[in-house]
Formats: sequence, C-alpha cells, structure tokens
Amino acid sequence: MSKISPSILSADFVRLAEEIKAAADAGVDMLHIDVMDGHFVPNITIGPAVVESIRNITRLPLDVHLMIDEPDKFLADFIKAGADFLTVHVEASVHLHRTIDYIKTCNVLAGVSLNPATPIWNLDNIIEYLDLVLIMSVNPGFSGQKFIPSMLNKIRLLKKLLNERGCNAIVEVDGGVKLDNAKNISDAGADILVMGSAFFGSGDYKVFMKEIRDVLSPSLNFKEGFNER
Ligand code: DX5
Ligand code: ZN
Repeated sequence: MSKISPSILSADFVRLAEEIKAAADAGVDMLHIDVMDGHFVPNITIGPAVVESIRNITRLPLDVHLMIDEPDKFLADFIKAGADFLTVHVEASVHLHRTIDYIKTCNVLAGVSLNPATPIWNLDNIIEYLDLVLIMSVNPGFSGQKFIPSMLNKIRLLKKLLNERGCNAIVEVDGGVKLDNAKNISDAGADILVMGSAFFGSGDYKVFMKEIRDVLSPSLNFKEGFNER
C-alpha cells in the first residue's frame, strides 16, 4: 500500500511541533518538507535550521524536497540537519550525477524530482543511481493546487521504465493528491503519496488516516471489482 507523507507546508506553522506530533500519532509514514528559494519556484519557505528543529522532536523519516537553484550548495546543511530522503530537481541540477553521488555517500536516500513538463527520459542516464523519483503533479511552488490528470500516465511510464531497467527506485507523487484521486495515483504506481492541504486541512488527522488507508486498501479493490461484475 502507498505510504503517506504529509507536507508540512499546509500545517499551522505557529503550532508546528503540535502538528507534527498529531501527524505522528495519526500514523503517517514520514514527513514531507518543502524547501523553496524564491528563484526556482515563486515562493520562499524554510531552511536547514527548521529541518534540524523538526529532527529534534520526531523520529519520523524526513523527506526533504529541495525546490531550489544550485542545490549542491546546501546539500551538506540539509544532511547535517537530519534529512533521511533528499530530493533535488533535475531542472535545477547541472551536475546531477555528482549531486546524487554526494547524497548517497552521506548515507542519505537520494531522489530526483521532475516538473510536470519534464519528460521522464531526462532520467535516462541517472535512473540506476536513484533511490527515489518524485513526480510533480502540480507546478511546484504552492500547496492546494489541482492534480494535473496527464501525470497519471507519466507515473505509469516511469514505473515501466524502472521495471525495464531493473531499478527499484521508490516512486513518489506530489501535488493535488486527495482522498478521491489517491487510489488511481496509487494504482498507477505511486509508492509514496505526498498530501499537504488534504491532510492538514482535514481537521482530524486520525480519521483522515483511517479514510486514506481504507481508500487504498486491497480489500476495497476486491469489493470494487466484485461490484463491477
Ligand atoms: C508544491 C509542494 C507540495 C505541496 C503539496 O510545490 O512540493 O509538496 O505542498 O500540497 P498539496 O497536497 O496541497 O498539493
Ligand atoms: Zn513537495
């Protein structure tokens, strides 16, 4: 079943520690941390100091998504801050092989993200080295946007490419994932679903986690198939 990685971008920042504790108590699998620089994307969010503070209050894996230009300059800072997954954008990286190699040498899981308009073929010469591929299903910069439907096929193509090449990189999908489209995205091949506004806007995180696990559960698949006959 796909894992759930709530994006803290949609959390109440004044009560961030409480929000993270409540997410952990609700049974989330990891935390997604969106880092934006105002250059690569038209928004500014958080830096390594906040990641370090989060590291100090939770044991959840920290899934750090760098939406920044020249990511190489900041890799060491985010690794020191406690990132478990560190994902850079292919569009922002000039020496991607070196970047991935560095992250892996530091014993951190290395990911590459693709904007919606970037073809998966851009990963052709790097795919074997990746621990994770992050498909952006909205244009990065803001939470609360609508899922771009054509990304479903991109996820399927990526999964096919990974299988053909014998790679077992994790497939993560980020942007506009909601209760009503999560199953289709998961079935297309997403191993991790990032959920920002859907999770933190739900009001009751425990209820939300029960609902999403029910939506994704294999027994429900069977029931759906059965009803269709
Ligand atoms: C967008 C970020 C996403 C965003 C997801 O640039 O990378 O992680 O916070 O938020 P929702 O789930 O609301 O689209
Ligand atoms: Zn993200």
